[in-house]
Amino acid sequence: MKILVTGGAGFIGSHTVVELQNAGHEPVVLDNLYNASEKVIGRIEAITGKKVPFYKVDIRDREGLNRVFDEVKPEAVIHFAGLKAVGESVKKPWEYYDNNITGTLTLVDVMRKHGCKNIIFSSSATVYGDPAFVPITEECPKGSCTNPYGWTKSMLEQILTDIQHADPEWNVILLRYFNPIGAHKSGTMGENPNGIPNNLMPYITQVAVGKLKMLHVFGNDYDTPDGTGVRDYIHVVDLAKGHVCALKKLAPGSGLSIYNLGTGHGYSVLDIVKNFEAATGIKIPYVIDPRRPGDIATCYCSAEKAKKELGWEAQYGIREMCEDSWRWQKQNPNGYDG
Ligand code: NAD
Ligand code: UD1
Repeated sequence: MKILVTGGAGFIGSHTVVELQNAGHEPVVLDNLYNASEKVIGRIEAITGKKVPFYKVDIRDREGLNRVFDEVKPEAVIHFAGLKAVGESVKKPWEYYDNNITGTLTLVDVMRKHGCKNIIFSSSATVYGDPAFVPITEECPKGSCTNPYGWTKSMLEQILTDIQHADPEWNVILLRYFNPIGAHKSGTMGENPNGIPNNLMPYITQVAVGKLKMLHVFGNDYDTPDGTGVRDYIHVVDLAKGHVCALKKLAPGSGLSIYNLGTGHGYSVLDIVKNFEAATGIKIPYVIDPRRPGDIATCYCSAEKAKKELGWEAQYGIREMCEDSWRWQKQNPNGYDG
Protein backbone atom coordinates (compact mmCIF):
# COMPACT_ATOMS: atom_id res chain seq x y z
CA MET A 1 0.00 0.00 0.00
CA LYS A 2 1.23 3.52 -0.75
CA ILE A 3 1.39 5.38 2.53
CA LEU A 4 2.26 8.98 3.26
CA VAL A 5 4.19 9.18 6.52
CA THR A 6 4.13 12.69 7.95
CA GLY A 7 6.97 13.23 10.41
CA GLY A 8 8.58 10.16 8.85
CA ALA A 9 12.11 11.50 9.42
CA GLY A 10 11.57 11.63 13.19
CA PHE A 11 12.26 9.03 15.88
CA ILE A 12 9.14 6.86 15.68
CA GLY A 13 8.41 7.73 12.03
CA SER A 14 11.80 6.57 10.74
CA HIS A 15 11.52 3.20 12.50
CA THR A 16 7.99 2.83 11.14
CA VAL A 17 9.14 3.52 7.58
CA VAL A 18 11.64 0.65 7.92
CA GLU A 19 8.93 -1.73 9.14
CA LEU A 20 6.52 -0.60 6.41
CA GLN A 21 9.14 -1.33 3.75
CA ASN A 22 9.94 -4.69 5.39
CA ALA A 23 6.24 -5.53 5.17
CA GLY A 24 6.11 -4.70 1.45
CA HIS A 25 4.40 -1.30 1.69
CA GLU A 26 5.53 1.82 -0.18
CA PRO A 27 6.02 4.56 2.39
CA VAL A 28 6.68 8.14 1.28
CA VAL A 29 8.13 10.52 3.86
CA LEU A 30 6.91 14.09 4.37
CA ASP A 31 8.72 16.13 7.03
CA ASN A 32 9.72 19.77 7.48
CA LEU A 33 12.92 18.60 9.27
CA TYR A 34 12.18 20.88 12.23
CA ASN A 35 13.23 18.09 14.59
CA ALA A 36 14.94 15.66 12.25
CA SER A 37 17.91 15.20 9.97
CA GLU A 38 17.65 14.41 6.28
CA LYS A 39 20.46 11.89 6.89
CA VAL A 40 17.89 9.52 8.34
CA ILE A 41 16.55 8.85 4.84
CA GLY A 42 19.92 7.38 3.79
CA ARG A 43 20.03 5.32 6.98
CA ILE A 44 16.58 3.85 6.29
CA GLU A 45 17.63 3.02 2.71
CA ALA A 46 20.84 1.37 3.96
CA ILE A 47 18.83 -0.86 6.32
CA THR A 48 16.13 -1.94 3.89
CA GLY A 49 17.95 -1.65 0.56
CA LYS A 50 14.94 0.22 -0.83
CA LYS A 51 14.53 3.86 -1.89
CA VAL A 52 12.43 6.20 0.26
CA PRO A 53 10.80 9.13 -1.56
CA PHE A 54 11.17 12.23 0.63
CA TYR A 55 9.34 15.58 0.52
CA LYS A 56 10.51 18.47 2.66
CA VAL A 57 7.10 20.03 3.28
CA ASP A 58 5.34 21.53 6.30
CA ILE A 59 1.89 20.13 7.10
CA ARG A 60 0.61 23.72 7.38
CA ASP A 61 1.64 24.35 3.76
CA ARG A 62 -1.57 23.60 1.84
CA GLU A 63 -0.03 24.10 -1.60
CA GLY A 64 2.92 21.89 -0.71
CA LEU A 65 0.56 19.18 0.53
CA ASN A 66 -1.59 19.45 -2.59
CA ARG A 67 1.49 18.89 -4.76
CA VAL A 68 2.51 15.84 -2.72
CA PHE A 69 -0.98 14.31 -2.83
CA ASP A 70 -1.26 14.96 -6.59
CA GLU A 71 2.07 13.24 -7.17
CA VAL A 72 1.99 10.41 -4.62
CA LYS A 73 -1.74 9.57 -4.49
CA PRO A 74 -1.42 7.83 -1.09
CA GLU A 75 -4.09 5.38 0.05
CA ALA A 76 -3.47 6.14 3.72
CA VAL A 77 -1.61 8.58 5.94
CA ILE A 78 0.29 7.75 9.10
CA HIS A 79 0.45 11.10 10.86
CA PHE A 80 3.44 11.52 13.18
CA ALA A 81 4.28 15.16 12.36
CA GLY A 82 4.01 17.38 15.39
CA LEU A 83 5.89 19.20 18.09
CA LYS A 84 6.31 17.11 21.25
CA ALA A 85 8.42 18.85 23.89
CA VAL A 86 6.24 19.23 26.96
CA GLY A 87 8.23 22.05 28.64
CA GLU A 88 8.56 24.02 25.40
CA SER A 89 4.81 23.73 24.83
CA VAL A 90 4.18 25.54 28.13
CA LYS A 91 6.40 28.43 26.98
CA LYS A 92 5.15 28.48 23.36
CA PRO A 93 1.48 27.41 23.42
CA TRP A 94 0.56 29.30 20.22
CA GLU A 95 3.33 27.57 18.28
CA TYR A 96 2.17 24.17 19.56
CA TYR A 97 -1.51 24.73 18.79
CA ASP A 98 -0.64 26.17 15.38
CA ASN A 99 1.77 23.41 14.39
CA ASN A 100 -0.19 20.46 15.75
CA ILE A 101 -3.81 21.58 15.36
CA THR A 102 -3.66 23.90 12.31
CA GLY A 103 -1.24 21.44 10.71
CA THR A 104 -3.56 18.46 11.22
CA LEU A 105 -6.66 20.40 10.10
CA THR A 106 -4.85 21.39 6.90
CA LEU A 107 -3.62 17.84 6.32
CA VAL A 108 -7.05 16.32 6.84
CA ASP A 109 -8.67 18.88 4.51
CA VAL A 110 -6.17 18.12 1.75
CA MET A 111 -6.67 14.39 2.35
CA ARG A 112 -10.44 14.54 1.90
CA LYS A 113 -10.14 16.74 -1.17
CA HIS A 114 -7.91 14.03 -2.67
CA GLY A 115 -10.29 11.24 -1.66
CA CYS A 116 -7.86 9.79 0.90
CA LYS A 117 -9.82 9.17 4.09
CA ASN A 118 -7.64 6.70 5.95
CA ILE A 119 -5.51 8.00 8.80
CA ILE A 120 -3.52 6.59 11.70
CA PHE A 121 -2.79 9.26 14.28
CA SER A 122 0.02 9.37 16.86
CA SER A 123 -1.65 10.02 20.16
CA SER A 124 -0.22 9.57 23.61
CA ALA A 125 -0.86 8.11 27.04
CA THR A 126 -0.79 11.74 28.12
CA VAL A 127 -4.50 11.98 27.15
CA TYR A 128 -5.36 9.87 30.22
CA GLY A 129 -3.93 12.57 32.50
CA ASP A 130 -3.46 11.12 35.97
CA PRO A 131 -5.20 7.85 35.05
CA ALA A 132 -8.36 6.84 36.85
CA PHE A 133 -6.99 3.28 37.09
CA VAL A 134 -4.07 1.07 36.05
CA PRO A 135 -3.50 -0.91 33.96
CA ILE A 136 -5.05 1.71 31.68
CA THR A 137 -7.55 0.32 29.18
CA GLU A 138 -8.88 2.30 26.23
CA GLU A 139 -12.14 2.77 28.20
CA CYS A 140 -10.31 4.68 30.92
CA PRO A 141 -11.73 8.22 30.84
CA LYS A 142 -9.52 10.88 29.30
CA GLY A 143 -8.08 13.16 31.93
CA SER A 144 -6.97 16.72 32.34
CA CYS A 145 -3.68 17.46 30.60
CA THR A 146 -1.05 19.50 32.39
CA ASN A 147 0.42 21.19 29.30
CA PRO A 148 -0.47 22.47 25.81
CA TYR A 149 1.31 19.54 24.11
CA GLY A 150 -0.99 17.11 25.88
CA TRP A 151 -4.03 19.18 25.01
CA THR A 152 -3.13 19.14 21.31
CA LYS A 153 -3.22 15.32 21.42
CA SER A 154 -6.49 15.25 23.34
CA MET A 155 -8.12 17.85 21.05
CA LEU A 156 -6.88 16.17 17.87
CA GLU A 157 -8.37 12.88 19.03
CA GLN A 158 -11.70 14.70 19.41
CA ILE A 159 -11.36 16.48 16.06
CA LEU A 160 -10.63 13.25 14.19
CA THR A 161 -13.46 11.48 16.03
CA ASP A 162 -15.95 14.20 15.04
CA ILE A 163 -14.76 14.16 11.42
CA GLN A 164 -15.21 10.38 11.27
CA HIS A 165 -18.68 10.60 12.81
CA ALA A 166 -19.75 13.25 10.30
CA ASP A 167 -18.41 11.29 7.34
CA PRO A 168 -18.32 7.50 7.84
CA GLU A 169 -16.13 7.13 4.75
CA TRP A 170 -13.27 8.09 7.05
CA ASN A 171 -11.33 5.31 8.74
CA VAL A 172 -9.46 6.64 11.74
CA ILE A 173 -7.15 4.84 14.16
CA LEU A 174 -5.95 6.66 17.24
CA LEU A 175 -2.83 5.01 18.66
CA ARG A 176 -1.96 5.99 22.21
CA TYR A 177 1.75 5.42 22.69
CA PHE A 178 3.22 4.80 26.10
CA ASN A 179 6.98 5.52 26.52
CA PRO A 180 8.98 4.62 23.41
CA ILE A 181 12.70 3.98 23.93
CA GLY A 182 15.31 1.78 22.24
CA ALA A 183 16.60 2.11 18.71
CA HIS A 184 17.11 0.08 15.55
CA LYS A 185 19.30 -3.01 16.11
CA SER A 186 21.81 -1.75 13.55
CA GLY A 187 22.64 1.19 15.83
CA THR A 188 22.22 3.52 12.83
CA MET A 189 18.82 5.00 13.76
CA GLY A 190 17.56 6.25 17.10
CA GLU A 191 16.30 9.18 19.11
CA ASN A 192 18.08 12.45 18.44
CA PRO A 193 16.98 15.03 21.01
CA ASN A 194 17.97 18.68 20.67
CA GLY A 195 19.90 20.03 23.66
CA ILE A 196 19.56 18.46 27.09
CA PRO A 197 17.09 15.56 26.90
CA ASN A 198 13.82 15.85 28.81
CA ASN A 199 13.02 12.15 28.68
CA LEU A 200 14.58 9.51 30.88
CA MET A 201 16.33 7.10 28.48
CA PRO A 202 18.13 9.69 26.32
CA TYR A 203 19.25 11.39 29.53
CA ILE A 204 20.67 8.09 30.83
CA THR A 205 22.48 7.29 27.57
CA GLN A 206 24.04 10.77 27.56
CA VAL A 207 25.28 10.20 31.12
CA ALA A 208 26.67 6.83 29.97
CA VAL A 209 28.51 8.38 27.02
CA GLY A 210 29.97 11.13 29.25
CA LYS A 211 28.03 14.10 27.87
CA LEU A 212 26.12 14.62 31.13
CA LYS A 213 27.47 14.14 34.66
CA MET A 214 24.65 12.37 36.45
CA LEU A 215 20.99 11.54 36.25
CA HIS A 216 18.55 13.65 38.25
CA VAL A 217 15.77 11.40 39.52
CA PHE A 218 12.62 13.51 39.79
CA GLY A 219 11.22 12.46 43.16
CA ASN A 220 11.42 9.29 45.26
CA ASP A 221 8.33 9.92 47.37
CA TYR A 222 5.64 8.68 44.97
CA ASP A 223 3.26 5.94 46.01
CA THR A 224 5.18 3.30 44.02
CA PRO A 225 7.30 0.31 45.17
CA ASP A 226 10.56 2.31 45.31
CA GLY A 227 9.06 5.81 45.38
CA THR A 228 10.14 6.75 41.83
CA GLY A 229 7.79 7.18 38.84
CA VAL A 230 6.57 4.05 37.05
CA ARG A 231 6.09 4.00 33.26
CA ASP A 232 5.35 1.54 30.45
CA TYR A 233 8.49 1.63 28.30
CA ILE A 234 8.15 0.14 24.83
CA HIS A 235 10.80 -0.62 22.21
CA VAL A 236 10.42 1.77 19.28
CA VAL A 237 10.64 -1.12 16.79
CA ASP A 238 7.71 -2.85 18.51
CA LEU A 239 5.82 0.44 18.35
CA ALA A 240 6.68 0.76 14.65
CA LYS A 241 5.35 -2.75 13.99
CA GLY A 242 2.13 -1.76 15.75
CA HIS A 243 1.52 0.67 12.89
CA VAL A 244 1.96 -2.05 10.28
CA CYS A 245 -0.65 -4.15 12.13
CA ALA A 246 -2.95 -1.15 12.48
CA LEU A 247 -2.84 -0.58 8.70
CA LYS A 248 -4.53 -3.95 8.16
CA LYS A 249 -7.38 -2.76 10.36
CA LEU A 250 -7.81 0.43 8.33
CA ALA A 251 -10.20 -1.25 5.91
CA PRO A 252 -13.28 0.38 4.36
CA GLY A 253 -16.04 0.62 6.95
CA SER A 254 -13.72 0.11 9.90
CA GLY A 255 -14.69 3.53 11.27
CA LEU A 256 -12.97 4.77 14.39
CA SER A 257 -10.72 2.67 16.62
CA ILE A 258 -8.47 3.44 19.56
CA TYR A 259 -5.56 1.31 20.78
CA ASN A 260 -2.99 1.57 23.53
CA LEU A 261 0.48 0.64 22.34
CA GLY A 262 2.59 -0.38 25.31
CA THR A 263 3.92 -3.56 26.87
CA GLY A 264 1.59 -3.67 29.86
CA HIS A 265 4.55 -3.66 32.28
CA GLY A 266 5.55 -0.79 34.53
CA TYR A 267 9.18 0.01 35.42
CA SER A 268 10.33 2.63 37.90
CA VAL A 269 13.10 5.14 37.21
CA LEU A 270 15.45 3.11 39.42
CA ASP A 271 14.42 -0.14 37.65
CA ILE A 272 15.50 1.47 34.40
CA VAL A 273 18.82 2.59 35.88
CA LYS A 274 19.49 -0.94 37.20
CA ASN A 275 18.48 -2.60 33.93
CA PHE A 276 20.61 -0.18 31.91
CA GLU A 277 23.61 -0.88 34.15
CA ALA A 278 23.09 -4.64 33.86
CA ALA A 279 22.68 -4.52 30.07
CA THR A 280 25.69 -2.28 29.40
CA GLY A 281 28.04 -2.69 32.37
CA ILE A 282 28.12 1.11 32.75
CA LYS A 283 27.39 2.71 36.12
CA ILE A 284 24.87 5.57 36.05
CA PRO A 285 25.45 7.99 38.91
CA TYR A 286 22.28 9.71 40.08
CA VAL A 287 20.90 12.15 42.64
CA ILE A 288 17.36 12.43 43.93
CA ASP A 289 15.79 15.78 43.04
CA PRO A 290 12.32 17.17 43.78
CA ARG A 291 9.35 15.96 41.73
CA ARG A 292 8.98 17.43 38.20
CA PRO A 293 5.81 19.53 37.96
CA GLY A 294 3.06 17.75 36.01
CA ASP A 295 4.50 14.24 36.56
CA ILE A 296 2.30 11.41 37.77
CA ALA A 297 3.22 8.41 39.89
CA THR A 298 2.22 5.45 37.74
CA CYS A 299 1.27 4.95 34.09
CA TYR A 300 1.11 1.59 32.34
CA CYS A 301 -1.41 0.08 30.01
CA SER A 302 -3.42 -2.96 29.28
CA ALA A 303 -2.29 -3.92 25.78
CA GLU A 304 -5.00 -6.60 25.43
CA LYS A 305 -7.16 -4.76 22.91
CA ALA A 306 -4.30 -4.33 20.43
CA LYS A 307 -3.39 -8.00 20.89
CA LYS A 308 -6.93 -9.18 20.30
CA GLU A 309 -7.94 -6.88 17.46
CA LEU A 310 -4.64 -6.07 15.73
CA GLY A 311 -2.77 -9.30 16.48
CA TRP A 312 0.04 -7.13 17.80
CA GLU A 313 2.08 -7.63 20.92
CA ALA A 314 5.40 -6.11 21.99
CA GLN A 315 8.26 -8.60 21.60
CA TYR A 316 11.25 -6.83 23.12
CA GLY A 317 11.99 -6.69 26.84
CA ILE A 318 13.64 -4.04 28.93
CA ARG A 319 17.14 -5.47 28.42
CA GLU A 320 16.93 -5.10 24.65
CA MET A 321 15.48 -1.61 25.02
CA CYS A 322 18.52 -0.63 27.12
CA GLU A 323 21.06 -2.41 24.87
CA ASP A 324 19.66 -0.87 21.71
CA SER A 325 19.38 2.66 23.15
CA TRP A 326 23.01 2.36 24.20
CA ARG A 327 24.26 0.96 20.87
CA TRP A 328 22.72 3.92 19.04
CA GLN A 329 24.15 6.47 21.51
CA LYS A 330 27.62 4.87 21.51
CA GLN A 331 27.84 4.71 17.72
CA ASN A 332 26.37 8.20 17.27
CA PRO A 333 27.43 10.31 20.26
CA ASN A 334 26.14 13.44 18.50
CA GLY A 335 23.08 11.87 16.89
CA TYR A 336 22.90 12.21 13.12
CA ASP A 337 25.56 14.94 13.23
CA GLY A 338 28.37 12.50 13.92
P1 NAD B 1 9.98 13.51 16.49
O1 NAD B 1 10.09 14.94 16.86
O2 NAD B 1 11.24 12.71 16.40
O3 NAD B 1 9.18 13.36 15.11
C1 NAD B 1 8.22 14.28 14.68
C2 NAD B 1 8.59 14.70 13.28
O4 NAD B 1 7.61 15.62 12.81
C3 NAD B 1 9.95 15.41 13.22
O5 NAD B 1 10.74 14.77 12.25
C4 NAD B 1 9.61 16.84 12.82
O6 NAD B 1 10.61 17.43 12.03
C5 NAD B 1 8.29 16.65 12.09
N1 NAD B 1 7.40 17.82 12.12
C6 NAD B 1 7.05 18.58 13.19
N2 NAD B 1 6.20 19.55 12.82
C7 NAD B 1 6.03 19.41 11.46
C8 NAD B 1 5.29 20.13 10.50
N3 NAD B 1 4.58 21.22 10.82
N4 NAD B 1 5.32 19.71 9.21
C9 NAD B 1 6.06 18.63 8.85
N5 NAD B 1 6.80 17.92 9.73
C10 NAD B 1 6.78 18.31 11.02
O7 NAD B 1 8.96 12.82 17.52
P2 NAD B 1 8.61 11.30 17.73
O8 NAD B 1 9.08 10.92 19.08
O9 NAD B 1 9.02 10.48 16.56
O10 NAD B 1 7.02 11.40 17.81
C11 NAD B 1 6.19 11.19 16.68
C12 NAD B 1 4.76 11.48 17.04
O11 NAD B 1 4.38 10.63 18.13
C13 NAD B 1 4.50 12.90 17.52
O12 NAD B 1 3.24 13.32 17.06
C14 NAD B 1 4.51 12.77 19.03
O13 NAD B 1 3.76 13.77 19.64
C15 NAD B 1 3.87 11.40 19.20
N6 NAD B 1 4.24 10.76 20.47
C16 NAD B 1 5.55 10.61 20.79
C17 NAD B 1 5.88 10.04 22.00
C18 NAD B 1 7.34 9.88 22.39
O14 NAD B 1 7.61 9.61 23.56
N7 NAD B 1 8.31 10.01 21.49
C19 NAD B 1 4.89 9.59 22.86
C20 NAD B 1 3.56 9.74 22.49
C21 NAD B 1 3.24 10.33 21.28
C1 UD1 C 1 6.83 12.48 29.01
C2 UD1 C 1 5.85 13.60 28.80
C3 UD1 C 1 4.59 13.06 28.15
C4 UD1 C 1 4.93 12.29 26.87
C5 UD1 C 1 5.91 11.18 27.26
C6 UD1 C 1 6.34 10.33 26.11
C7 UD1 C 1 6.34 15.17 30.64
C8 UD1 C 1 5.82 15.82 31.89
N1 UD1 C 1 5.54 14.24 30.06
O1 UD1 C 1 6.24 11.57 29.88
O2 UD1 C 1 3.70 14.11 27.84
O3 UD1 C 1 3.77 11.74 26.30
O4 UD1 C 1 7.08 11.80 27.82
O5 UD1 C 1 7.25 11.04 25.32
O6 UD1 C 1 7.42 15.51 30.17
N2 UD1 C 1 12.66 11.21 34.88
C9 UD1 C 1 13.69 11.45 35.77
N3 UD1 C 1 14.76 12.17 35.34
C10 UD1 C 1 14.87 12.65 34.05
C11 UD1 C 1 13.82 12.39 33.15
C12 UD1 C 1 12.71 11.68 33.60
O7 UD1 C 1 13.64 11.05 36.92
O8 UD1 C 1 15.86 13.31 33.72
C13 UD1 C 1 11.51 10.39 35.33
C14 UD1 C 1 10.16 11.11 35.25
O9 UD1 C 1 9.89 11.79 36.45
C15 UD1 C 1 9.22 9.92 35.00
C16 UD1 C 1 10.07 8.94 34.18
O10 UD1 C 1 11.43 9.30 34.44
O11 UD1 C 1 8.86 9.30 36.20
C17 UD1 C 1 9.82 9.02 32.69
O12 UD1 C 1 9.95 10.37 32.27
P1 UD1 C 1 9.89 10.80 30.72
O13 UD1 C 1 10.83 9.95 29.93
O14 UD1 C 1 10.09 12.27 30.65
O15 UD1 C 1 8.43 10.38 30.28
P2 UD1 C 1 7.00 10.78 30.94
O16 UD1 C 1 7.16 11.66 32.10
O17 UD1 C 1 6.26 9.51 31.13
